[in-house]
Amino acid sequence: KPIVLSGCQPSGELTIGNYLGAVQQWVNMQDSHQCFYMLADQHAITVRPKPEDLRKATLDGLALYLACGVDPEKSTIFIQSQVPEHAQLSWVLNCYTQMGELNRMTQYKDKSQKAEVNMNSGLFTYPVLMAADILLYGASQVPVGDDQKQHLELARDIATRFNNLHGDTFVVPEPYIPEFGARVMSLQEPTKKMSKSDTNPGNFIGLLEDTKKITKKIKRAVTDSDEQANIYFDIAEKPGVSNLLSLLSSASGKSVAELVPAYEDKMYGHLKGDVAEAVVALLTPIQERYHAYRNDEAFLNKVMREGAEKASAHAAKVLAAVYQAVGFIAKP
Ligand code: AQP
Repeated sequence: KPIVLSGCQPSGELTIGNYLGAVQQWVNMQDSHQCFYMLADQHAITVRPKPEDLRKATLDGLALYLACGVDPEKSTIFIQSQVPEHAQLSWVLNCYTQMGELNRMTQYKDKSQKAEVNMNSGLFTYPVLMAADILLYGASQVPVGDDQKQHLELARDIATRFNNLHGDTFVVPEPYIPEFGARVMSLQEPTKKMSKSDTNPGNFIGLLEDTKKITKKIKRAVTDSDEQANIYFDIAEKPGVSNLLSLLSSASGKSVAELVPAYEDKMYGHLKGDVAEAVVALLTPIQERYHAYRNDEAFLNKVMREGAEKASAHAAKVLAAVYQAVGFIAKP
């Protein structure tokens, strides 16, 4: 089976964007792929969160993966910092990555232009840790959104460079665009993507949010102020309405083309009401399952322990080959 590695950062509460764009796809891949799904807490410290916030977001994220249907019997679920090979390989790969390559990463350039951002070197070398995440498992297919394509390309370049110098050590990963990968946009600024760390909570729908609050947020979502308040799908001209239509489509399982005719004589308010209803119906069972998992500390510990062991067993082999290749002496 092809190997897949993916993860979310516990940098806040997972959003419906993380669910529709990532976690839901992971669930669908569990039978056809050998899956490794992590909570990327080492990536999350690049913005130096409060320790108690990080701990909470990590455990919440773990319980949410389970509640969304990621199954520890089928997939390896783990916390990145509990598998030390990620940091170990990352150091080696740092020595095989050029400063110029990292300087060209657009995500880093965008972040560094915001004066308020704490520009530590972890933000700069973040793509190297991401390359280590992928290369440790020999993942041949990596599900990525547009914003991560450049980082995946870098992982390919690093792997190829290392293989050329030291012989075949890494599987060179391919991007994998999931068939129904939804990109959920921000509710108030529908031309940018929904993000869990957005400073305006009106912009995102958290998977754990109170359903009444979710309904309010959807009702307040920005629609488009063109002259005709018609409901149709056009991302360029009607980003707000199009985002609501795609949300409704993903939450209800109906295609946008199927949905649009029903709104011919309707107002934006109707659409928002339907979106809210569908999103609440989607999230209610997830929230119920989440609470059961989150309160079962023994089970969460078991998932973490077994996941870290399985991930480490896989990663240690790749790391040993890398250490041997660069000339480190194995512990006698
Ligand atoms: N709005 C989105 N629509 C679809 N997919 C999304 N993903 C994130 N936002 C959307 C996908 O979720 C996975 C995990 O992402 P991440 O936590 O590693 O970081 P991110 O992509 O930067 O997600 P956020 O929510 O925007 O986090 P912050 O605010 O911390 O930066 C990825 O597969 C991503 O594509």
